[in-house]
Amino acid sequence: MVAGQPAGPDPEYRLYQDLAGWWPLISPPGEYAAEAAYLAGVLRTADIPVREVLDLGSGGGHLASHLAGTLDLTLVDRSADMLATSRRLNPGCAHVQGDMRTLRLGRVFDAVLVHDAIDYVTTEADLARVIETAFVHCRPGGIAVFVPDYTADTFRPGSGGGGSSAPDGRQGSFREWRSDPDPADDWIEVRYEFVLRAADGHTRVVRETHRLGAFRRASWLRLLAAAGFTAAAGSSVEVLHGERPAHLFTGRRALLTTPVATTPSGPVSGPGGCGRSR
Ligand SMILES: C[S@@+](CC[C@H](N)C(=O)[O-])C[C@H]1O[C@@H](n2cnc3c(N)ncnc32)[C@H](O)[C@@H]1O
Repeated sequence: MVAGQPAGPDPEYRLYQDLAGWWPLISPPGEYAAEAAYLAGVLRTADIPVREVLDLGSGGGHLASHLAGTLDLTLVDRSADMLATSRRLNPGCAHVQGDMRTLRLGRVFDAVLVHDAIDYVTTEADLARVIETAFVHCRPGGIAVFVPDYTADTFRPGSGGGGSSAPDGRQGSFREWRSDPDPADDWIEVRYEFVLRAADGHTRVVRETHRLGAFRRASWLRLLAAAGFTAAAGSSVEVLHGERPAHLFTGRRALLTTPVATTPSGPVSGPGGCGRSR
């Protein structure tokens, strides 16, 4: 199923295309356990019980694999290769191919989660589209949680890396170098070098540069509010267990209220239907 069409000509990075099968070695699922536990706690702060969750940009489903036992997850990614990788890890989850900027599933969820895939949104117009997608799929009383790796306010150049090996001898590792070519815009650059060793020992090195969003905290809060959410940044979310993500923004969708009209003889129920929450 393909839901939503790409809103613009974006680069399709090799990491999420022909290299997608290496994702479980490059960024092993176990590394997401603590963050998933923390985010599960944040999801539980919604005004309604949270069971059905839409995960936008779910990638290889590594984060999702730690939530799937207690939540009913629908995993969306625009890469068929990443979805195939995720299906192997999360066979019990619904998987949908779609673009988080334009996706419209025609149903709502108790919560919407947009983890590090939000990094691939690099313009404010596209960020507003993703937030709108989250809003229209969020049930009244539900919560949308966004977990970008970077914000413009806190970005610092640097480097890092990681990786792991499989029992069959395959190894996947990466190094990264982060920089901000122009601090006045909304994106930064990460140069990656992937070292991929096949089971027979054949090793190749793949390099590619990703452009990743780094928006101002104030922009996040403004766009969330403009979409109809009650917006908050991570520091005001009072749920702490497990490992905190570096950045976190939440949007809470108001519970529907029944409008009450007054007449000279007293209050009467509104004309059917419910009040809008935005
Ligand atoms: C870093 S990976 C996500 C990894 C994921 N958190 C996990 O646990 O495996 C980023 C993902 O975002 C997806 N992505 C980027 N832009 C997207 C968009 N506009 N709509 C849907 N998915 C997108 C990529 O295809 C990629 O799978």
